[in-house]
Amino acid sequence: MTARKRVGVLISGRGSNMVSLAHAAQADDYPAEIAIVASNVPDAPGLARAREFGIKTATVDHKLFDDRAGFERALHMVLKDANIDLLCNAGFLRLLTKDFVDAWLDRQLNIHPSLLPAYKGLHTHERVIADGTRISGATVHFVRTEMDAGPIVAQAAVPVLSNDSADTLAARVLDAEHALYPHALALVAGGKARVVDERVVHAGDATTSASLMSPQLLVPNAG
Ligand code: GRF
Repeated sequence: MTARKRVGVLISGRGSNMVSLAHAAQADDYPAEIAIVASNVPDAPGLARAREFGIKTATVDHKLFDDRAGFERALHMVLKDANIDLLCNAGFLRLLTKDFVDAWLDRQLNIHPSLLPAYKGLHTHERVIADGTRISGATVHFVRTEMDAGPIVAQAAVPVLSNDSADTLAARVLDAEHALYPHALALVAGGKARVVDERVVHAGDATTSASLMSPQLLVPNAG
């Protein structure tokens, strides 16, 4: 196997997606290792969870900087010092400037709890339920300056049930996220998904795409 990509995971909170990536990266044949977990929130619970995996952690507290650019320069230095190849944003709640996005262009992923381009932004599950949408899910995409936009690597679909609350739907989507993000990172780190003309091209397109739709993520007879 070629050298594993060194991945930095950016978090702001509990870090359950980071944990799913760390679990996946424990497999010998996984094409990436989680080299650092960095947070803009000093007491983000995900930092302690990362240390339980023996992963190096860093905090760059955005409140200590006068502006977004200063915060991003400090974060960029931390990531460069750790020799990071790829970034995975996982519940990272900072808008990024064009400079930072360009510095990591096509090397930075994000996960969003909806089937983009639908339901960008916050409170996705409340809005899905209010609209009566029947299928929701999660998306892993390359980061661009526009929030929750960028070439889509992979998506997972889940049903929206009649009796769902935002919390029950969020839990179902989160389960899907935990399967989806390791899968998407493996595609990118393994060189099987790359950006061409602002769309993601998968190597061996048909089979790879079909495998994204895990049967366990699709519940028959959705209410
Ligand atoms: C996830 O739902 C992710 O899609 C969104 O923020 C949440 C982060 O959860 N961007 P966690 O911190 O990974 O548990």
